[in-house]
Amino acid sequence: MAPPPRRTREEEHAPPPEPTAWVLAGRAFVQGRLQSVEIAISEEGTILSVGKVRPGPRRHDVGEAVILPSATDLHVHFREPGGPSGVESIESGTLQAALGGVALVGEMPNTTPPVTDSEALADKAVRVHRRAAVDVLLYASPTNPRALRSLARRAGAFKLYLSPTTGIAEPPAPADLAPLLGRLGELGLPVSVHAEDPTEFETEVPAKDTVDWDAGRPPAAEQTAIERLLRDAPPSLRLHVAHVTLGSSVARLRRAGISFEATPHHLLLADRRDSDARRKVNPPLRAESERKLLWEAFVRGEVPVLASDHAPHSADAKALPFALAPSGMPGVETLLPLMLARVRAGQLPLPILTASACDRPARWLGQPHGRIAAGHRAHLLVVDFRQRTRLEGRHLHAPCGWTAFEGREGIFPREHYFYGRRIVADGEFVGGARGAVVRPEFAPTSR
Ligand code: DOR
Ligand code: ZN
Repeated sequence: MAPPPRRTREEEHAPPPEPTAWVLAGRAFVQGRLQSVEIAISEEGTILSVGKVRPGPRRHDVGEAVILPSATDLHVHFREPGGPSGVESIESGTLQAALGGVALVGEMPNTTPPVTDSEALADKAVRVHRRAAVDVLLYASPTNPRALRSLARRAGAFKLYLSPTTGIAEPPAPADLAPLLGRLGELGLPVSVHAEDPTEFETEVPAKDTVDWDAGRPPAAEQTAIERLLRDAPPSLRLHVAHVTLGSSVARLRRAGISFEATPHHLLLADRRDSDARRKVNPPLRAESERKLLWEAFVRGEVPVLASDHAPHSADAKALPFALAPSGMPGVETLLPLMLARVRAGQLPLPILTASACDRPARWLGQPHGRIAAGHRAHLLVVDFRQRTRLEGRHLHAPCGWTAFEGREGIFPREHYFYGRRIVADGEFVGGARGAVVRPEFAPTSR
């Protein structure tokens, strides 16, 4: 009889395989399609294996519902520290994420003070501890050259603004952009860029509605900023362009092989002649014909990442005359539900939604989740496509109490598992404050 194969040194020293703590069974999105499977999950919250039958001490069958990976929203503003009181916090923002099926958020640095040094970053990390419902990756702002190296060791990613916006008055001077991008390329962290070139802004006419706002920060501002970025970014930079609004930008960035995102508001809402400032946002909503081009590119799978740019402001601030109202709208809770409703309506293929909302954003941030596969974190959703709701600001969980998607259809996850523990049951939050600050664990693969 042949001797048993010799164990390699690694196998001899490998820890014993983790035991299955429980099994989730049902139709799940695995390897690009819905299949009936059983998912073995460890006590620590990792997917151990996926197969036809998995033995385990406890089994939960989701019946008619489907199992999807949780989403990652790599672009949110939770206004802490220094935000106006009652508008948002890390607690309230991560609660909305949990309820909307998002297991990880990327939180932006334009808070007060902005996250431009390690002290501000450490302060934010302390605020996440024991208060966040889901994991948080913290962006830093690369405006202070002396702080870059220490930020690169501690932050999760950088966010660079090429135009003034809420909390950011001074973008880098044009001559400084190439050296800064070169430096960021050496530091290795992912870099997301707000790509609007302010030299293209038309500031003469006061804006009375979103059509004027669109004319004031026109498509040319996005196109020019993207061209500058493509010219000045070194190949080593792990670049991502935030909230792209134009079909032509999709084509340009795809040709260049660069990661980018589109938001539900640019995909689903167009500018119009009314004074409702809840639709005021940077970059602006575009004309219906342009919105349609972006949506069609998204449906074809040409937009790598879906992200909310969750940026709430109080209802009072948004009731100011249009020109004075701040830009931004909430969206982390409705990111996935809005798009699940489009899947149900037959307008968006499920594989395109899971790739853009779950898989690619997690990979860009170097996180092992967003796929239902062995070795990935057990961040999982149970979605019943029959449970449709009409969105109403007062029933959502954003403290600002309003949504620009009022009356639209949404499908919210019935259950949400975070590291294998249930944090949403029957659409209600039943979790705790188990979210932590995370940093990239592997090099993002987008570029
Ligand atoms: O509309 C926006 N609001 N765009 C941004 O870039 C920032 C954001 C905010 O923080 O309010
Ligand atoms: Zn933003």
